[in-house]
Amino acid sequence: MGRMIVCSCNVIREEEIRDAARKGCRTPEAAYASMGCEPQCGCCLDFADEIIDEELPKGQTLRAVA
Ligand code: FES
Repeated sequence: MGRMIVCSCNVIREEEIRDAARKGCRTPEAAYASMGCEPQCGCCLDFADEIIDEELPKGQTLRAVA
């Protein structure tokens, strides 16, 4: 699962999104921006959002607007 491509437009892997989330990115947009990308078609955003949620410390589910 960790090697799965989440965003095929930007070729971003699940592990890269988890990494960005752990570094403080709280939205897919912020995570992609930290890799020098931005959402293209947008169809990966829900999944990316779920991955970021999983990396948030417990009790910290507030989402900042990127
Ligand atoms: S798959 Fe991520 S923007 Fe298209």
